[in-house]
Amino acid sequence: MADSLAIAVLAAGKGTRMRSALPKVLHSLSGLPLLQHVLISTATVHPVRQIVIVGYGADQVKTALAHLPNLEFAEQAEQLGTGHAVQQVIPALAGFEGNLLVLNGDVPLLKPETIENIVSTHNDSGSAATILTAKIDDPTGYGRVFCDENLVVKEIIEHRDCTAAQRANQRINAGIYCFSWSALMTVLPHLKADNDQQEYYLTDVIKDLSPVRAVDAPPAEIAGINNRKQLAEAEAVMQKRIKDDLLLSGVTLINPDTITIDATVLVEPDVVIEPQTNLRGRCVIHPGCHIGPGSLVENSVIGANTTLIHSVITDSEVAGGGRIGPFAHIRGQAVVGENCRIGNFVEVKKSTIGDRTNVAHLSYIGDAELGQQVNVGAGTITVNYDGRNKHKTVIGDRTKTGANSCLVAPITIGSDVTMGAGSVLTKDVESDCLVVTRSPQKSIPGWKPEYLRQAQTETPAKD
Ligand code: UD1
Ligand code: CA
Repeated sequence: MADSLAIAVLAAGKGTRMRSALPKVLHSLSGLPLLQHVLISTATVHPVRQIVIVGYGADQVKTALAHLPNLEFAEQAEQLGTGHAVQQVIPALAGFEGNLLVLNGDVPLLKPETIENIVSTHNDSGSAATILTAKIDDPTGYGRVFCDENLVVKEIIEHRDCTAAQRANQRINAGIYCFSWSALMTVLPHLKADNDQQEYYLTDVIKDLSPVRAVDAPPAEIAGINNRKQLAEAEAVMQKRIKDDLLLSGVTLINPDTITIDATVLVEPDVVIEPQTNLRGRCVIHPGCHIGPGSLVENSVIGANTTLIHSVITDSEVAGGGRIGPFAHIRGQAVVGENCRIGNFVEVKKSTIGDRTNVAHLSYIGDAELGQQVNVGAGTITVNYDGRNKHKTVIGDRTKTGANSCLVAPITIGSDVTMGAGSVLTKDVESDCLVVTRSPQKSIPGWKPEYLRQAQTETPAKD
């Protein structure tokens, strides 16, 4: 089947110019590794094989992609250049008869339609190779593509190997190539490292293949990431794309430049997102929510019509209709029911909170299970940690905890309990009780000794 497509993604380089211990292709762009964006852009051309060429930090790269199905890895033990990298897939593709789409793992802004375009142009033209190019204002650092007016390519010369006159050519190589595998195999094994960097350049196969066609791509899509400045520029492009898509899908973003939203976030229509809000990781924000200003939601699900102000929610779920914040921190697999009020200044960790329960002021609720319609008095603390282990607090439906109370876990408090303010509870409480641990209030009139009473009339001592 001549049209079947394999992909090879070059991801073995360290990325020296990133000045980082993390392999370059694992640096995050809008919440996903650079390399994963590249893989996503190829989904609509349905590759039958997906080979990632790993080298520097190979184990780290494999682990980061372990959740993706049908990936194969080829190891490039020494990074001797992009051509040497593609040579590493030769054993895996022995007997393969289709096309090989080669992508650089550090070119993450490609859109699926651009990939579809290079693949279909290649199939239609029957070329030996088709390469993605763009004309850009500042081509510094990129390989220059030399072609005629019909976009038939003669050769690619790396920036550092170009003469001054060749550098004036603004048509650059995007690092994305579609090869007929059998044609590539006539030249790939014979590459030489006779260039300034003494590397085996993939780009050197082009001058020995014929015909080679160039396909133009929108310049904004082909930016390669070699340093953190370029990463920041790509982030701005990706953020604009994500936010423009959301705006057009019915989400209001107020002052969108101050908002960041990862590519992995799902925001439903009629959500309003206010300034200085960040949505990260795997989040779902259901319709009618009002998120922000000044909030961070990470790996969490927020039910419909929730209001969230100046708060942080991580790895948790909040059902619909609630009012969260200002200044709530909900974390550690917390599950908050419907129509709850959480905050001002409340932390909820790894706890379940029943529907219509309020934890409205200055509380810590950790490792707890609260029923429905519980009212947690201001300043209530679950004392969950004995210095060694964490213990559980259970509070039944409709119970009211006293303001400034401590519930020393493990402890179970029944339903319909009313608790006196300032209580320190260390034992379980049955349902339907009033419970209080305070010592009785005493007033002692005339308690001051004579010398203190006299002192009141004297001028204060200076020291
Ligand atoms: C490469 C192209 C250049 C093009 C540019 C587009 C070559 C020789 N040059 O240059 O024409 O304009 O991309 O962005 O191909 N890699 C390996 N193994 C290696 C070397 C690199 O896997 O031995 C990987 C890197 O991890 C990276 C990709 O290949 O993902 C590109 O390598 P990089 O060094 O960034 O190439 P450029 O100098 O940008
Ligand atoms: Ca690069």
